[in-house]
Amino acid sequence: MSTLLKVNNLIKHFPVTKGFFQKQVGAVKSVDGISFEIEEGETLGIVGESGCGKSTTGRALLRILEPTEGEVLFDGVDIAKLPKKELRAFRTNMQMIFQDPYASLNPRWTVQQVLEEPLITHGNLTKTEVKQRVTELMELVGLSPQQASRYPHEFSGGQRQRIGIARALALNPKFIVCDEPVSALDVSIQAQVLNLMKDLQQKFSLTYLFISHDLSVVKFISDRVGVMYLGKLVELSPTKSIFAEPLHPYTKALMSAVPIPDPEIKREQIVLSGDVPSALHPPAGCAFHTRCPVAMDICKTLVPKWSEVSGGRKVACHLYEQNHTKEEQGSCH
Ligand SMILES: Nc1ncnc2c1ncn2[C@@H]1O[C@H](COP(=O)(O)OP(=O)(O)OP(=O)(O)O)[C@@H](O)[C@H]1O
Ligand SMILES: [Mg+2]
Repeated sequence: MSTLLKVNNLIKHFPVTKGFFQKQVGAVKSVDGISFEIEEGETLGIVGESGCGKSTTGRALLRILEPTEGEVLFDGVDIAKLPKKELRAFRTNMQMIFQDPYASLNPRWTVQQVLEEPLITHGNLTKTEVKQRVTELMELVGLSPQQASRYPHEFSGGQRQRIGIARALALNPKFIVCDEPVSALDVSIQAQVLNLMKDLQQKFSLTYLFISHDLSVVKFISDRVGVMYLGKLVELSPTKSIFAEPLHPYTKALMSAVPIPDPEIKREQIVLSGDVPSALHPPAGCAFHTRCPVAMDICKTLVPKWSEVSGGRKVACHLYEQNHTKEEQGSCH
């Protein structure tokens, strides 16, 4: 397998301005220096509480939001620095599936028009070829091509998400950011849509960044899982090992809230006190130290670095650092 996406020190800060002259007085550090790679055909799940920067990461990767700093290498091309014109053409490789497809589908367009739009804008297909492709896309996502003449509101939530997926697939992308794609759906429908996404991934060797706050969904779909806290990645591990043995205290707390089907297994529930601190003034040192049940003195001042743990696992926590010296200060990206 080869690496499709390599993200180096991605930062997205939203400036906070004040007064008539819009003087910058601070910045919301939504994504604060994260690095990771995604292999071709892989699904990397991203989890974390609300407001920790999951969506901002996905959007900055695709340059729906302009990154403040950092590299996003896609097949070796740095998307973060591509001029606008080249980016437009390059975008066909990368798509996004949203939580609420209804909000992202123009209600005055029929499904036919929704699916035709990217084909007409980016492709050089004849009218007949466009029609054929729409038929193909409808079939791919399990809808009948005859339904293409209907409007989005005439479909159920699950069907609308299928339309969202069909639109994302229209231009044969390699990489799709899926931002909470099943969170708005009934549990019974979630499984169907997730299975469809898995089938399509196999069929077209798609690579997914799959954002969700639902750990069972992430467990089902992901090969590896990244855990975010206040704009930083705190752990990145293969799915099996992160669920079997979470390393970071934050991951442990998140996992402890997931019910285990086996009543024989007892797991201590770790309740995190308080909310996620503001991304405008994140705590110094390890941003999690204010809520961490095992915080040490060092955590209040020194940002933990990535520690590589066996089995392809990475964690940014002082508990796992062998020898930390002042000279080794660095950010955990
Ligand atoms: N356009 C913006 N301007 C200023 N701050 C923003 C903007 N968009 C997001 N933020 C802030 O960035 C932080 C991260 O937001 P983001 O939406 O990425 O979180 P998330 O992990 O996707 O949360 P959720 O699970 O609720 O979707 C939050 O503090 C949010 O308020
Ligand atoms: Mg979000």
